[in-house]
Amino acid sequence: IKCIGVMTSGGDAPGMNAAIRAVARACAYYNVRCIGFYRGFQGMIEGDYIDLDARSVRNIISRGGTILKSARSKEFRTKEGREKAANHIKEIGVDAMILIGGDGTFKGGKVFYEEFGIPVIGVPGTIDNDIAGTNFTIGYDTALNTVIDAIDKIRDTASSHDRLFFVEVMGRDAGFIALNSGVGAGAEEILIPEEDLGLDRLLESLRRSKRSGKSSSIVVVSEGDKIGKNVYELADYVTENLPDYDVRVTVLGHMQRGGSPTCFDRTLASRLCVNAVELLLDGHKNIMVGLINNNVAYTSFEEGLKEGHGINKELLRISDILST
Ligand code: F6P
Repeated sequence: IKCIGVMTSGGDAPGMNAAIRAVARACAYYNVRCIGFYRGFQGMIEGDYIDLDARSVRNIISRGGTILKSARSKEFRTKEGREKAANHIKEIGVDAMILIGGDGTFKGGKVFYEEFGIPVIGVPGTIDNDIAGTNFTIGYDTALNTVIDAIDKIRDTASSHDRLFFVEVMGRDAGFIALNSGVGAGAEEILIPEEDLGLDRLLESLRRSKRSGKSSSIVVVSEGDKIGKNVYELADYVTENLPDYDVRVTVLGHMQRGGSPTCFDRTLASRLCVNAVELLLDGHKNIMVGLINNNVAYTSFEEGLKEGHGINKELLRISDILST
């Protein structure tokens, strides 16, 4: 392998720059040319790229976002789009690709490898942490810290006004962000898609909170929660049924994807990407790298993409006890 391409795709995540840097520097170390494609698969389709040497990634380890930009390419979902990408890659002389992104990116990479035989390795970069082949995805830790920082601030005003806040967090169909930030920020209740708490139990829990002398409360709601109401409808429902509560809603939104990555995410990105380059040089392909029990491990895309993995429901029990 003489040339490795790298791109970032799907929702951006803090630590993606640290990942790009690690790919470029590992390539330089092993005397391999490194090409960065802009806007994920779309840049591969359009042949929009830049040469990355060791110096072109200076001072980006601490920056949020991604210098290569990111996108969700509709065109790559078509065979014609993927064909264009494969042709550009061959023309440029790229022998293998490192794809940094989430499940959509990995699905695209798997199909691309199957159709054109170009070796690909996936590196998990998403704030959602919803990839089975790793205990942690790049960006998740930073997002958790951003969320608890925001909730701590909301708690200040909730407490001053004796209010109940519903705070909606991201995560798509997975409750990792909600569950872990909820425990970390000391929420009274945590609503996640993996466990339907039910409206009656929610009301009962809030009544109990009031009786126990609490004057303000925080409920963390995962955006993918299946309680059957969105966060605003939920707030209205609680206001109707528990008129004693003064209810407000905060949707944290895309701020959760920004900011300087934590040390954990920078280190994770560095470890996974150096290993990704080395795995390609050793002839591996069609796999993802991840961190399992604090060891870098690789998994087939099939395994890595299995659904319904790893959410630690034990944390719900812990949260129940601690919100007494
Ligand atoms: O996958 C990351 C994520 O931030 C999800 O948590 C969220 O559901 C989605 O992306 C939002 O996507 P967009 O940036 O396209 O609105």
